[in-house]
Amino acid sequence: MPASLTDTRSSELYQRALELLPGGVNSPVRAMRAIGRDPIFVERGAGAELLDVDGNRYVDYVCSWGPLIHGHADPQVLEALLAAAAKGTSFGAPTAGEIDLAAEIARRVESVDMVRMTSSGTEATMTAVRLARAATGRERIVKFAGAYHGHLDGLLAQAGSGLATHALPSSPGVPVSAASATTIVPWNDPEALLAATGEEPIAAILAEPLPANMGVVPPREGFLELLRARADEIGALLVLDEVISGFRVARGGAQELSGVPADLTVMGKVIGGGLPAGAVGGGAELMRMLAPAGEVYQAGTLSGNPLAVAAGLATLARLDDGAYMRLAAFTEQLAAGLADAAGRVGRPVQIASSPGLLTVFFSETPVYDLAGAQACDHRAFAGWCRGLLSRGVYAPPSQYEAWFPSLAHTPEQLELTVSAAAAAFAELS
Ligand SMILES: Cc1ncc(COP(=O)(O)O)c(C=O)c1O
Repeated sequence: MPASLTDTRSSELYQRALELLPGGVNSPVRAMRAIGRDPIFVERGAGAELLDVDGNRYVDYVCSWGPLIHGHADPQVLEALLAAAAKGTSFGAPTAGEIDLAAEIARRVESVDMVRMTSSGTEATMTAVRLARAATGRERIVKFAGAYHGHLDGLLAQAGSGLATHALPSSPGVPVSAASATTIVPWNDPEALLAATGEEPIAAILAEPLPANMGVVPPREGFLELLRARADEIGALLVLDEVISGFRVARGGAQELSGVPADLTVMGKVIGGGLPAGAVGGGAELMRMLAPAGEVYQAGTLSGNPLAVAAGLATLARLDDGAYMRLAAFTEQLAAGLADAAGRVGRPVQIASSPGLLTVFFSETPVYDLAGAQACDHRAFAGWCRGLLSRGVYAPPSQYEAWFPSLAHTPEQLELTVSAAAAAFAELS
């Protein structure tokens, strides 16, 4: 018999929210439309557990979409936050913590000497793109289909037809002129990359080094090395967006795993420990082009906010080699358990993972790019996700998103997850 969850209070709140917030939410994926149900309103979280407003408990694999690598309401993050808040929540003047956080980031990411903080990943990407254009005197940005770098105009772009280099807006309201300065290339496609970077001058090749916004789709052997070599060859910058992978997949992010350094690194999520924060980092010469050291304008009322900095420092402080080994081991066990659960009922899935990230693709063949993710059985995925929710597992409600296992997940929660997954797979068959 299918399991079910009580959502009377969530439904009431959603009806009220629909009157006051477009679509009832403040960010689209929360609405759960991709899995054909209404959003669940959260009451509180502790560790890897979420409690909703109807009293349902879930093992949470969204974890705020990545920032909460130590889980919800982590005592050490809370302690740091309370201490910082007691001194004042924002000054619009420099604080010592900002230097500590920049130093911690620079220690972890070899290609980063200096850091400019922002309040979101979107702003950080915007800053990196501006800096790349200023540094090269060029405008065109090459990005990959299925990658997400925030909602800035020029990157809300989709490939035009055929071999068209100039992308088209992917959202109403994006000027054609903004999108047309972007070129979209299929991920993991060396020929397409070479073709797209062989015509017009390019300011930057922008990539998630471990893409997680079309589900987790790792680079194929040699692809990141090609991006690095090609950027150097054509005099473009390589901008690596580590908003998701940064400080999650390894101490120094995906750049540490691959050994391929960026000219500019975009960061977010984990560095804010659950508070709004983003950052762009890079070599000193490039970074000193930013105002007021240089002439490239960039600013933010809450940039380097003392609460976000305190939460970020408290989060990073416990992310040592041992923590990454534990996170990798948990992710591997989770991936193996989910694969086994699918195998027991003969459901063909592909599980892509790296430490702290995982996607279950409803596909018979491995997924290497956006087209592969689009070809998945989204209907079955949606049914499975609803089945997970009704059995107390809150997984990202879209085939295009990654699960975020954390250091707070326990062996008991792993067991519950795998048996819920098995039952939800069986229900589909
Ligand atoms: C890789 C990547 N870059 C940038 C962003 C944008 O960050 P934010 O939502 O903080 O603006 C996201 C958001 O999920 C992301 O996944």
